[in-house]
Amino acid sequence: MALVPAQQQEIERQLRDLRESLSTEQLLWASGYMAGLAAVGQPVANSAVQAVAEPAAEASPAQTLTIWYGTETGNSRGVAQRLADSARERGWKVDLAGLDEVQPRRIGKTGVLVLVVATHGEGDPPETAEAFCKFIQSDRAPALNDLNYAVFALGDSSYPDFCQTGRELDERLAGLGATRLLDRVDCDVDFETQEDPWREQVIETLAPLVEPRAGEPRLQVVGNQTASAASASVNRHDRRNPFAAELLEVSPLTVAPSHKQVAHVELSLEGSGLAWQPGDSLGLWPENDPRLVENIIKLTGANGDDEIGRDGQRLALGQWLTRHAELTQVVRPFVEAWAGLTESRQLTDLLGDRDAFQAWSHQRQVIDIITEFPARLDAQALAGSLRRIAPRLYSIASSPLTADDEIALTVKLEHIGAEEGRRLGVASGQLLERARPGDLLPIYIEANERFRLPVDGERPIIMIGPGTGVAPFRAFVEHRQAQGATGASWLFFGEQHRRTDFLYQLEWQRHLRSGALTRLSVAFSRDQADKVYVQHRLREQGRALHAWLEDGAHVYVCGNGQGMAADVHQALVDIVADHGAKSPEQAEEYLAAMKADHRYQKDVY
Ligand SMILES: Cc1cc2nc3c(=O)[nH]c(=O)nc-3n(C[C@H](O)[C@H](O)[C@H](O)COP(=O)(O)OP(=O)(O)OC[C@H]3O[C@@H](n4cnc5c(N)ncnc54)[C@H](O)[C@@H]3O)c2cc1C
Ligand SMILES: Cc1cc2nc3c(=O)[nH]c(=O)nc-3n(C[C@H](O)[C@H](O)[C@H](O)COP(=O)(O)O)c2cc1C
Repeated sequence: MALVPAQQQEIERQLRDLRESLSTEQLLWASGYMAGLAAVGQPVANSAVQAVAEPAAEASPAQTLTIWYGTETGNSRGVAQRLADSARERGWKVDLAGLDEVQPRRIGKTGVLVLVVATHGEGDPPETAEAFCKFIQSDRAPALNDLNYAVFALGDSSYPDFCQTGRELDERLAGLGATRLLDRVDCDVDFETQEDPWREQVIETLAPLVEPRAGEPRLQVVGNQTASAASASVNRHDRRNPFAAELLEVSPLTVAPSHKQVAHVELSLEGSGLAWQPGDSLGLWPENDPRLVENIIKLTGANGDDEIGRDGQRLALGQWLTRHAELTQVVRPFVEAWAGLTESRQLTDLLGDRDAFQAWSHQRQVIDIITEFPARLDAQALAGSLRRIAPRLYSIASSPLTADDEIALTVKLEHIGAEEGRRLGVASGQLLERARPGDLLPIYIEANERFRLPVDGERPIIMIGPGTGVAPFRAFVEHRQAQGATGASWLFFGEQHRRTDFLYQLEWQRHLRSGALTRLSVAFSRDQADKVYVQHRLREQGRALHAWLEDGAHVYVCGNGQGMAADVHQALVDIVADHGAKSPEQAEEYLAAMKADHRYQKDVY
């Protein structure tokens, strides 16, 4: 029986209330449990649940395996969950949690810990791990002589501080007296290749400590249904098992002579069973431009039909380069391999100069290096020099309440060089230039619990989203309108020129008229002599903005650039200090308290 909108809203309200009281793991389990209920039409006695909920210390002298993760875009959570699943299948007791869900001090009572942690910002911990990292690096951290641990570090070798957070935590735990059971693994964006062997190694190494002893009760997993496997039945498709989504439409949002090319992209999720919430992102596994692949093959003299073997796969070189190779970003491991293959002194010197390397590599793609530093190679050597491609994430720009089988994105074309010989980013180039409506694209949903609308629809919201940062706010405004939320909303948008770059201008104007959007403040940086950005508009509106904060508003910041987020943060600090009669330190505390209350959330890339 179909639900009427009022019923849907009531159920959604009840679920939101429940969500407030659950941890991420509990939520995942609950979603699987609901799916189980729906499947059999009646409550099920799910012993996976009973097993997970059983207190750790009561039954077993074998130790609980504690798995904590620090994530921002979900990868570390996935790695941690898959490890937890494997451990539970063996009947081990597992305590799986995000670093933002645990009291850092609990580490002192932990016997066996696996930490899965990403690095973000410029070598910084993910926001969810900030408090834990601060505590563990401080004098308050306890001695950890009874702790056995392993660290799985996720990162991206295109950043100079590769896997910095994992490195720092690994060193610090050892410094506090803990025993490193396994060498740290530093993983690049293609972490899947290292994850599976690592997981097996962890299980093998930890078995003597964690395996239930003879006579001890084993946790039972009914029907092989572990907690996260159950939730997977809700979103069957994920990063490892993407859904082939049909591209429906690509419509330009910028007009000539804009310096930017930004488009609204719509994909069909029909038949996928994928669910999402405003604030989530969509992951796309992109495909390289076949002409680029052809040129690279030609330049190296390799044979595109030759089979290559990598990570247990055998594929023709041409196919492998198209679907699996990172060809647009120039990363250290590739340049190291290329320096070796070409014996280039210049490349070796560049690798030794961190800042020069960063500036040089970001202005180039792989084909530029191959052209500048030629080498003749066979198929296997060429494939061996390249990093595997990683999916690209895009903030979802539509609400599931308006159309749950279609999903929208706001995508900017990434490129270097002028019109002639322009080199495009792989994913944005595919979406905006190469793909055609009807094409099937491998996608998945990446949930983002740290970027959520307030449960209470009466709460005011302030959305700060320059450029493509406006994407999730299109979803927010649509969603609150569909829910009949009455809270006020204020959007700060910025771009270069009003005439050419005002993304979704007509929609915002319509929302202003209908009352779905209460206020709109725009900053077009190049429409006047002095540059004006969103942070300037925030300052100009300081008094009103402060009143909104005092009224309980939630603040969201989204977009490209750590610089933008830092400038916006400073503007907020100044506003709270000036209009709230506070010192800068007190203003920082005010915003920190808002952050702790999930009232100040960022999604910056
Ligand atoms: C959570 C999240 C949400 C996002 N939301 C959006 C969104 O809503 N809209 C949007 O447009 N984008 C969004 N992005 C950015 C998006 O994921 C892509 O990064 C962006 O589209 C560029 O991808 P690409 O494949 O087109 O370009 P890429 O192929 O990744 O980049 C190509 C260009 O990068 C440069 N480059 C060379 N070497 C390097 C290197 N080592 N590292 C980095 N760059 C290098 C070169 O100039 C090259 O031409 C988001 C990112 C995240 C993490
Ligand atoms: C905005 C941003 C900044 C990043 N900064 C770094 C960095 O400084 N060092 C690094 O090794 N990786 C960096 N990464 C890469 C992430 O660590 C990598 O994508 C990882 O798989 C993310 O894991 P998570 O999904 O668990 O957050 C950054 C990623 C983003 C989106």
